[in-house]
Amino acid sequence: MASSSFLLVHGFPSLIIVLSYLVQFARSDSVFIASSDYTAGAYGSGPFQSFFSANSTPSVWNFAHPLNRTDVTISSGYLFTAPRGSDTVAPGPLIYDNDGSLVWDGTSFGETLIFQVETYLGEPHILTWAGNSLATGVGSGYVSLINNRYELVSRLITTKNTALMTAYQTKQIDLSSYGGLSGGYISDSVFQEVNITTGETLFTWHASEHVDPGECYNKLGSGGTTTSNAWDYFHINSIDESTDGNFLISSRHCFTLYYINATNGDIIWQMGGAKSDFAMGNGASYSWQHHARWVIENDTYATLTLFDNAGEFGESDESNSRGLHLAVNFTSMSVELIQEFIPYNTTLSQSQGSVQLQPNGNFLLGWGFMPWASEYSPSGELLWAAQFGVVGGNYNEGYRALRFNWTGEPTAPPSMSFIHSAKNNLTSVYASWNGDTRTERWELLGATDPSGSDAVSLYNKTRSGFETTITVNTAAHRYNYLAVRALGTENAPLGISEFTSIGNGIVTLVIGAWRTVFTAVVLVYTLQII
Ligand SMILES: *[C@@H]1O[C@H](CO)[C@@H](O)[C@H](O)[C@H]1NC(C)=O
Ligand SMILES: *[C@@H]1O[C@H](CO)[C@@H](O)[C@H](O)[C@H]1NC(C)=O
Ligand SMILES: *[C@@H]1O[C@H](CO)[C@@H](O)[C@H](O)[C@H]1NC(C)=O
Ligand SMILES: *[C@@H]1O[C@H](CO)[C@@H](O)[C@H](O)[C@H]1NC(C)=O
Ligand SMILES: *[C@@H]1O[C@H](CO)[C@@H](O)[C@H](O)[C@H]1NC(C)=O
Ligand SMILES: *[C@@H]1O[C@H](CO)[C@@H](O)[C@H](O)[C@H]1NC(C)=O
Ligand SMILES: *[C@@H]1O[C@H](CO)[C@@H](O)[C@H](O)[C@H]1NC(C)=O
Ligand SMILES: *[C@@H]1O[C@H](CO)[C@@H](O)[C@H](O)[C@H]1NC(C)=O
Ligand SMILES: *[C@@H]1O[C@H](CO)[C@@H](O)[C@H](O)[C@H]1NC(C)=O
Repeated sequence: MASSSFLLVHGFPSLIIVLSYLVQFARSDSVFIASSDYTAGAYGSGPFQSFFSANSTPSVWNFAHPLNRTDVTISSGYLFTAPRGSDTVAPGPLIYDNDGSLVWDGTSFGETLIFQVETYLGEPHILTWAGNSLATGVGSGYVSLINNRYELVSRLITTKNTALMTAYQTKQIDLSSYGGLSGGYISDSVFQEVNITTGETLFTWHASEHVDPGECYNKLGSGGTTTSNAWDYFHINSIDESTDGNFLISSRHCFTLYYINATNGDIIWQMGGAKSDFAMGNGASYSWQHHARWVIENDTYATLTLFDNAGEFGESDESNSRGLHLAVNFTSMSVELIQEFIPYNTTLSQSQGSVQLQPNGNFLLGWGFMPWASEYSPSGELLWAAQFGVVGGNYNEGYRALRFNWTGEPTAPPSMSFIHSAKNNLTSVYASWNGDTRTERWELLGATDPSGSDAVSLYNKTRSGFETTITVNTAAHRYNYLAVRALGTENAPLGISEFTSIGNGIVTLVIGAWRTVFTAVVLVYTLQII
């Protein structure tokens, strides 16, 4: 969404650039478009934005390849990303709109990998996996289920009211045939289906009972000698339940997708890697892959998507990672490439990543270790590419980038903050409501007492991104107390902030002195005298 501060960025480029070196941030609701300064690190390696009315410092995006809206349609919905990494100022789940404007800051949930919408008991819920991830790509954390009022419902996981989860379990086995100790250690890949209501385990699968480490590519080296360097030979990183109830799992370290019989755990077939049951067509092979998902399936034919990392730290099998859309023929037992999706900057992403088919046939990619998201037409044309961090500093990354429909109805009230200048009797009011997707307009209310009992409507303004600014001239001095009310469709009142005194002509600074410089500029551009 274009906003006042977006104009600001264009209106005062030299001012912005000078300031950016001082504070390394972008003003509220900023989105950079084809900014080479951003890419070059002029705004720091983890550029973020900040707001007056919310204590929030989410990553700011740069649409390095902007969407050309005149000939392209994009599915409605919101972008779910969870930036993290040592250069990311506020790691955690963040929802943005299609224009890169913040909708929900969920960073209080901490560093997050999985961040998606799932239906639980008939209602859409946010599902997250948050915790500490280790260098090896394995983490220790927990799953949270959050309803659309942003309340934590459960620390468990769910699909169809059962949970599918992966785990890593250290196990002692004989590694002598792989060049290791006879009493060596592996980190076994395990997945389970659990009944959420009862906690009962419905199904458990151990890679070590079905897959010989000899068919995998993450070599033992000098590892596997103790529990702390246990050999992660398999590395499960995605599970998808098929329509027949069996499971499609991805093994990053075996370069293979395995189809697992949900009744007895047998491998029904395996695709890719050293012992593929399928002939892999031109461009259809993958390595170190992530996020395998069925698109369509029947008994003779299926299509699926996955993120082909094509390399990992210190190894590159191809020059760049790719998103893949593959066709599987179960009669000829062959896999053909339908379409590949090439990164904007032809880079290799060493870990993580996602491919999501959109309802209109486009494909949304999250580039994992590379802090990028991009969208493609069904024929593989790049429609837009945005970065949420700079490549080449320390690092910014995001496990996946996915789009979902979502209606957020926060229980916490809207938030308001203002800056009043006695000098010219102008008050800039900042309104936001973290996570709310329904607000269409903001109504400014004035009252003579803090209860708001005699409140009158002063001004209505269309919502603009996360934070909307309304600037009013208070020279008449009729109302000492101000509040903002969120209005939805047909002006339905959705929530109201507290009435707050504008004080006695004291300039109220919200966060730091540097804001005054911006306030002066914002006032010029948003002046609405009432
Ligand atoms: C946007 O798309 C239109 C229609 O295809 C084309 O004429 C125009 O050149 C494009 N603009 C940019 C900036 O790519
Ligand atoms: C989970 O447990 C509940 C309570 O016993 C039961 O009603 C439900 O059918 C179980 N679901 C599955 C998938 O086993
Ligand atoms: C899965 O295993 C069950 C029980 O052994 C068997 O009846 C079924 O045919 C197997 N399914 C497939 C697709 O192989
Ligand atoms: C499976 O899909 C293929 C390709 O769309 C189609 O030709 C075939 O008829 C389908 N088979 C069944 C059993 O639906
Ligand atoms: C699958 O392969 C068989 C055998 O080569 C072929 O006859 C059939 O047309 C293929 N199916 C599709 C959907 O391409
Ligand atoms: C693309 O890659 C080149 C070479 O690595 C780098 O200089 C440039 O900054 C990158 N561009 C973006 C937008 O990341
Ligand atoms: C969201 O819902 C709208 C309306 O049903 C639909 O057109 C759109 O494709 C959906 N978006 C996603 C990401 O599912
Ligand atoms: C703002 O919109 C509300 C809802 O339609 C209306 O009641 C109010 O009078 C409007 N305020 C102004 C100042 O126009
Ligand atoms: C600001 O408003 C006060 C109270 O109405 C008035 O006394 C003062 O002259 C105004 N100042 C300016 C600069 O307009």
